[in-house]
Amino acid sequence: MTSVKIERLDDFGRGITYVDSKVCFVPFAIDSEEVTIEIEKETSKYDIGHILDINKKSDNRIETKCPYYDICGGCNIMHMRYSYQLDFKKKKVESILSRFASINNVIKEIIPTCEFGYRNKVSLKVKDGRIGYYKEKTNDLVAIDRCLICSDAINEVIGKLSKKDLVNVNKVLIRSNYKNEVLLVLYGKNIDKKLLNNIEIPNLVYIDNDKEIIIKGSNFLIDKIGELLFKVSYNSFFQVNRIGVDILYNKVLEYSKGNRAVDLYCGTGTIGLFLSKKFKEVYGVEIMENAVLDANYNKKLNDINNISFLCSDVALVKDKFKDVDLVVIDPPRSGLSSSALNNVLSISSNMIVYVSCDPVTLARDLKKLKMYYDIKEVTIVDMFPNSYHCESITVLERR
Ligand SMILES: C[S@@+](CC[C@H](N)C(=O)[O-])C[C@H]1O[C@@H](n2cnc3c(N)ncnc32)[C@H](O)[C@@H]1O
Repeated sequence: MTSVKIERLDDFGRGITYVDSKVCFVPFAIDSEEVTIEIEKETSKYDIGHILDINKKSDNRIETKCPYYDICGGCNIMHMRYSYQLDFKKKKVESILSRFASINNVIKEIIPTCEFGYRNKVSLKVKDGRIGYYKEKTNDLVAIDRCLICSDAINEVIGKLSKKDLVNVNKVLIRSNYKNEVLLVLYGKNIDKKLLNNIEIPNLVYIDNDKEIIIKGSNFLIDKIGELLFKVSYNSFFQVNRIGVDILYNKVLEYSKGNRAVDLYCGTGTIGLFLSKKFKEVYGVEIMENAVLDANYNKKLNDINNISFLCSDVALVKDKFKDVDLVVIDPPRSGLSSSALNNVLSISSNMIVYVSCDPVTLARDLKKLKMYYDIKEVTIVDMFPNSYHCESITVLERR
């Protein structure tokens, strides 16, 4: 047991202090707080401390409303006042771009979204018939009956499922849409087809022994962003923050210039379809076949004719999109592979808009892109309130 002062925060929102000159990370601590900790884990390079007492509390600390916070392994910065969370994320992206890519003074702003009730999708574990999250880095289930960052429609379903014995189920996925319609998917082996007979769920799918069985309704939802409708299959990527997605795509639209655009890593075609009203011709590239099927469905659903989708790895599209004015990139957390990055460079567009959910891989990629492009500005949209994750849009212009 030792008393320490928190000197600053790391990129995961943990406090950093030193115990006998060795760095110690303290989850759930805030900058300049004085706390009593016990060392929970020791490694040769660093320790992890667990807070026993807060001796001097930060003004930026708030009482969390969630009964499962700090045990469920989900949110990690909910104890911070929301304005301070935004400040932390802005400084985090600033520092990562500076440390890893020597890029400075480019952050324009961080746009807040909605602290609670924003998630339109949740994935939960089931153990011994009970629904919940796994405690961080363990397989120990924390049973829950609600999750404050999820939509009310999702929470209604979690509440009902928490009272059931979910025999033979090992995972649950719940999606909701703009109309508060719900799609529930149960994953497991030999699930009783009557398991949820007395629960009112309009769309219910079992993935039983890896086989998809639609029990009720359909295996997708229709969602709406701005004026556009989107088919979202249960297993396709779709942005999880129902308020933030509108802000994110409108910002991309605002930044975008030119006549022809390509939307790389397009998922269900969302950004490309958004751009189609401003551009003469748009292309989308996506590796998952089911997402491309959804993208083509969405094109018809919205009666849009100036967009076409290609099912391919971005790393394989060399020479396909020469002469486009704009390249939009929205890759997974891993960012661009070196061949994908070379392909983007070979397109040689006037402008790149890079949407990223991981500032570290963003910095790695910008370090290479900045040899040919000026980094004009970065806007952060807070797509993941109460967690340390950051979504950003970077605008690059060819020199
Ligand atoms: C972060 S999501 C973005 C999707 C879309 N832009 C949106 O906002 O809904 C990344 C997408 O890239 C796709 N993807 C991952 N690796 C890929 C690759 N090598 N080539 C093409 N698409 C890929 C994923 O399937 C996923 O749909």
